[in-house]
This record gives sequence, C-alpha cells and structure tokens, in this order.
Amino acid sequence: MAKIGVFDSGVGGITVLKEILKVFPKERIIYYGDNKNAPYGERTVENIRELCLKVGEFLVLNKVEAIVIACNTATAASLETLKNRFPRIPVIGVIEAGAKTAYKTSTNNCIGVIATPATVKMNAYPKSFQLINPDISVVQEGCSKLCPMIESGWENTLENETVVKTYIKRIPAKVDTLVLGCTHYPIIRETISKYFKGKIVDPAKETAVFLKKELFLNTVEINKNNEGTCEFYVSGEIKKFKKVAENFLGEKIEKIYQINL
Ligand code: DGL
Repeated sequence: MAKIGVFDSGVGGITVLKEILKVFPKERIIYYGDNKNAPYGERTVENIRELCLKVGEFLVLNKVEAIVIACNTATAASLETLKNRFPRIPVIGVIEAGAKTAYKTSTNNCIGVIATPATVKMNAYPKSFQLINPDISVVQEGCSKLCPMIESGWENTLENETVVKTYIKRIPAKVDTLVLGCTHYPIIRETISKYFKGKIVDPAKETAVFLKKELFLNTVEINKNNEGTCEFYVSGEIKKFKKVAENFLGEKIEKIYQINL
C-alpha cells in the first residue's frame, strides 16, 4: 500500500487528484490545499518556495512515499528545491507531463500556454519545450483573474465568460494546441473550449502515469489494500474548497480538516 501526498495552492490540484485516483484506486492519499495562501501565481518565487517547503514537510511528517506537486506555479518555483530537500522519495511536478503531452498533440509545433503570471514569468513551459524540441514555438498568456475566480466558485462571477474570452483572444490563430498550464483551469475547461477551437491539453493524466513509473522504480508496493482512502487538509476555508472539489470529483468528501502550517 502506497501513501501519496498531493498538493496545490487550493482546489486546482483536485484535477490531478482525479486522474491519480483512476490509476491508484487502492492507495492512501493525502491532499493539501494551501487555499489561505492562494493564489500562488501572484507571489514571488522565493515566497512560493517557502510555502511549498512547509507543505512538503507536512506531507513527509505524514509518511508519504511520494509527493505530487499538483500545481504548475509550485512546480516551476520549487520542484528542484523539494527534490533536494526530500531525496528519498519521488517528487513529481506537472510541467514536464504537460509539455510532453502538448508536443505529442500538436501537429504544427505552435503551442499556447495559459498559466498564472508567476509560471509565465518563470518561463517554465518554454524551458521545458526547449528540452523536448527547440523548434517548438510557444505563446504564453498569464491569466491573473482565473485562479481566484475558480477558488471562490466559478459560477459566482457574472463576467466569467468575458474574462476567459479576453485571455483566449490573445492567443494567435496559428496555435493548434493549448496547454492548461494551471491545474485550476480544467475545472473550467468547458468555458475555455467555447473560445479556443484547437486541441486542449491537461497535464493531469500524464502526471498520474509518471507517478506510476516513479513508484515502480522506487519499488513502492501498490494495489495491495482493498479500498483506497483520501484525506484532505486545507489551510483556509473548508466550505468553498469542499464544494468545488466535490463538484469536480463527482463524489462527497468525508475527511477534511483545516490545518495551518
Ligand atoms: N493551480 C496552480 C497552478 O497550477 C496555481 C494557482 C495559483 O495559486 O495561482 O499554477
């Protein structure tokens, strides 16, 4: 039985968790949503790193055997830091998975990325594409408004469609594939697909596959118990988190606790 730690700045990592649960229905999962400190995308790299280290310590104290950084901003800022801090367990981010999936999906090597301002500023995706194939042309759009709107309940904001439309309009027509470079965005995939008519890539599925490979390489025993469990911890408000997360997961969340690190 494996114990897997998954975290995000809030509810976005649930989109990754959903894919992890499909691949690992029988493991113990601990999810941490740092919603008191969201959005990470408006913070400095140093500050994001500090927050991620705290979450990492919490998960390791809870004896996880792998950490999934289910957040692009946190991956960009702290993947290497967490790998160095916790060398005994696999630490997996979402950006490499997103970039590889987009490369496989695109037919003209013109790829768009919508992400938080911090992810865009760190050039996380262009750097990752550069390693895959330097000929890929990447267009990035920082979407500062989306994460806070999704955290507080997408349907509660009247201008939500207009906001998405404005961001998507800035993506040039030659872009045939768009990466949802923030794990919050798959929650509003339907709205995004109204305005972007090419192919849309969500790194979540490939991240779960990466995780499986890493656990195998680290000889972590999986699939041995009868029933998986999932515990949720949040640093901020439980109610809003629970509502958005349950909607996306399509099931009730029983074990949810508030803990400020
Ligand atoms: N879900 C996060 C991401 O993938 C970040 C959202 C935020 O806190 O700004 O980048």
